[in-house]
Amino acid sequence: MKNNNIFNKEHFIENLSQTKSLASALADNIRGGEVLLFFGNLGAGKTAFIKYLANFLGVRGVVSSPTFNILKVYNVAKNERVKHFCHIDAYRLNSGKELIDLGIEEILDQTDTVTAIEWAEKIKDIYPKKYIKIEIKTLDEKSRLIKIAKIKS
Ligand SMILES: Nc1ncnc2c1ncn2[C@@H]1O[C@H](COP(=O)(O)OP(=O)(O)OP(=O)(O)O)[C@@H](O)[C@H]1O
Ligand SMILES: [Mg+2]
Repeated sequence: MKNNNIFNKEHFIENLSQTKSLASALADNIRGGEVLLFFGNLGAGKTAFIKYLANFLGVRGVVSSPTFNILKVYNVAKNERVKHFCHIDAYRLNSGKELIDLGIEEILDQTDTVTAIEWAEKIKDIYPKKYIKIEIKTLDEKSRLIKIAKIKS
């Protein structure tokens, strides 16, 4: 999957290890400064995908769901361009304003930081002009439809 173009198409995923492969392919396309907006129901696999992605980019150790912290920033090791990985869970938020209070604007401006946001529909008011949209649809216990698109408004 690594060398194929993964953007602007739907990926039919049969199990967790295929989700991991897709996260690896996305990591190969990350250059720094990207904002990744995740959409998908409870348990769709947003956190699972982000954990793999973070580890492929060079985050060491466990990436846990930031639900109670809302925002977590990890250091990235051994990556020439990406130095920080920011994981946000917007589930409990009512608007992006709450993220602005947490300093999100400064984070989004950093070209050496990659930001992944779960429940991105909650923060529509602060979408950047350019982002990568990742929609995960649950088909059954293990299978998912994952759509990855580059959006520019
Ligand atoms: N193909 C798959 N891809 C991703 N997760 C899968 C897949 N098959 C099974 N799972 C399981 O589905 C669950 C996904 O949970 P996860 O916490 O990642 O979802 P989430 O979208 O982040 O949910 P929430 O909205 O609660 O944050 C995990 O237990 C994972 O092991
Ligand atoms: Mg989650």
